[in-house]
Amino acid sequence: MERLLVPRAQTAEPPRCVRARIAAVGDLHIRGAHDRRVIPGLEHLGERADLLVLTGDLTDNGRLVEAEAAADLFTAVRVPVIAVLGNHDHRSLRRAAFRRVFERRDIDILEGRAITVRTASGALVGVAGTTGSGGGFWSTEWPDGIHTRSLERLAIRARREGEALERALAELDADIAIAVTHFAPTTATLGREPLAKYWMLGASALGQAIDRHHPDLVLHGHAHLGALRGAMPGGSPVRNVALPVAGGIYIETIEIGLAVTEPSSRLEPASWL
Ligand SMILES: [Fe+2]
Ligand SMILES: [Fe+2]
Repeated sequence: MERLLVPRAQTAEPPRCVRARIAAVGDLHIRGAHDRRVIPGLEHLGERADLLVLTGDLTDNGRLVEAEAAADLFTAVRVPVIAVLGNHDHRSLRRAAFRRVFERRDIDILEGRAITVRTASGALVGVAGTTGSGGGFWSTEWPDGIHTRSLERLAIRARREGEALERALAELDADIAIAVTHFAPTTATLGREPLAKYWMLGASALGQAIDRHHPDLVLHGHAHLGALRGAMPGGSPVRNVALPVAGGIYIETIEIGLAVTEPSSRLEPASWL
């Protein structure tokens, strides 16, 4: 379990400390109706975390039976479960029914909106999320050689998803703010992913929206060869919790109001490509 201490701006009032333990995982890629895999760290999660965030690609092909199998994994979890969908989930031909499978089990699906959760210790945690999009990390122009119509459509989708995330983040009124996407909002957590794939792994439009709001934690998946830890150019810690990267449920403890900074929040921010 990682411990993250985040200093907040000085005020005349004595600092109030709030704390939340955020569990997260994504890219389960549940395949077929009988996929009953064990997710390391899921057992007794309620004793170690206040909230579970799922970062998409819960299913491999977006089939309803896969959604049922994925949702069943979390029925015994005794903390609120909040999710965004991934590109593999969006393969579903019955999107409303797909979402309802999770909602029937009290798993909230965020598609450009925010919700808040009160933890047992009294902290108000706000989570803003959306799937996001590919599109790349070239904020002002495309790299040479990929000026195609499909990439232009991707750029439009990335901008639209960035705006949706920005609206959701602007809605947040909580002690601790978390931004969640499936696609990566930064290159900082792309790890061993090849540069040639960056355009399909995430989009700078997401990161720019996040950096205008400075959430306390950013979570994403999708980059299976990525790195677990990084920092947004604006300084927010970012975690790629794709199952092949995290190896199981990842848990981070956030404490706000303490004037102490531990190494995890001193990571060198990446700059926009
Ligand atoms: Fe995935
Ligand atoms: Fe994905």
